[in-house]
Amino acid sequence: MRHSYIAGVGHYVPTRVVTNAELEPMMNTSDAWIQERTGIRERRWFEEGTDTTANMGANAARKAMEMAGVAPNDVQMIVFATLSPDYFFPGSGVLMQRELGITNNCPALDVRNQCSGFIYALSVADQFIRTGMYDTVLVVGSEIHSSGLDKSPEGRTVSVIFGDGAGAVLLRPSTQEGQGILSTHLYSQGEHAEELIVKEPGSNRADRLQYVLDHPQDLYPYMNGQTVFKNAVVRFPQVIKEALDQNGMEAADIDMLIPHQANLRITQFVQQKMGLSDDKVYSNIQRYGNTTAASVPIALSEAVQEGKIKRGDLVCMAAFGSGFTWASALLKF
Ligand code: ACO
Repeated sequence: MRHSYIAGVGHYVPTRVVTNAELEPMMNTSDAWIQERTGIRERRWFEEGTDTTANMGANAARKAMEMAGVAPNDVQMIVFATLSPDYFFPGSGVLMQRELGITNNCPALDVRNQCSGFIYALSVADQFIRTGMYDTVLVVGSEIHSSGLDKSPEGRTVSVIFGDGAGAVLLRPSTQEGQGILSTHLYSQGEHAEELIVKEPGSNRADRLQYVLDHPQDLYPYMNGQTVFKNAVVRFPQVIKEALDQNGMEAADIDMLIPHQANLRITQFVQQKMGLSDDKVYSNIQRYGNTTAASVPIALSEAVQEGKIKRGDLVCMAAFGSGFTWASALLKF
């Protein structure tokens, strides 16, 4: 049966490195607290005027296209995952299309599924290839969090976690038996919608501007950290196991697990639960923080670049986040 494989990967992170030490005076936090609770040592923050959600996505996409040997006008569809779009509308997908010089009027679809956004986007793209509608689909995750964080001590629990960056993959139909995306698994549970949320600017205010002026805190992310943690450590193993079971495989078959880089403690919990050794779980949250929809493709791209993932390896990606939403993808790279 026709399905897709990852023909190219790429990532881009802003050049500005922000260490925990830099956050200490700003947020009344400490390097020790951040490292102990999250594993994060530093993250990237965008440069205003240089980096945008769309052009960071384009920078990552160019590398993926180059690896796949695909020219801009060969792209037949864009799926762009972000929770931090350039504009309220239109979506960042069309802006990236313009940035890449894609002039063939291919469809650009934005996906708003937060930390699970990239795997949702990958699944959408895979379906279009499976049905035969398209052959060349660009899937991107890109985020600028740093402009939307409360950098005062009140915001410290959340603001130390998130960073900026972008990752991309180029999907093509698989030509080899057993190569490519084997299955994807998507879930949502709306009853937890308010546990991890940026409320404003929302559409349900009669006077949006006045509301935001009166409630500026609602422009920043709110997170019930302990509830997120408790749900994440259940859903990650569940959705990974489902992918393995569906394909008649077990944890020992995984060559590399790419978990969404939410928090190193969540990753360590999942690793232990799945019985995977350190060399089979990729982590770069230490250097980039949590980049939500960008975290999985950045990690994948780095792992490929470092030779930790090779053609034919069994790769499992999994994510959990705001919504709550969670997802996995199992593939032979
Ligand atoms: N620096 C220093 N102290 C802090 C900070 C900070 N940045 N943030 C909170 N504290 C203090 C609090 O004020 C509190 O102090 P007190 O005991 O004197 O009252 C203490 O640390 C503990 O605060 P908690 O909020 O209870 O901290 P907790 O141990 O729950 O850790 C954390 C918070 C790290 C967010 C944790 O709940 C967690 O890991 N949650 C998972 C959420 C997560 O990983 N989200 C990632 C994004 S979502 C996703 O991608 C899935």
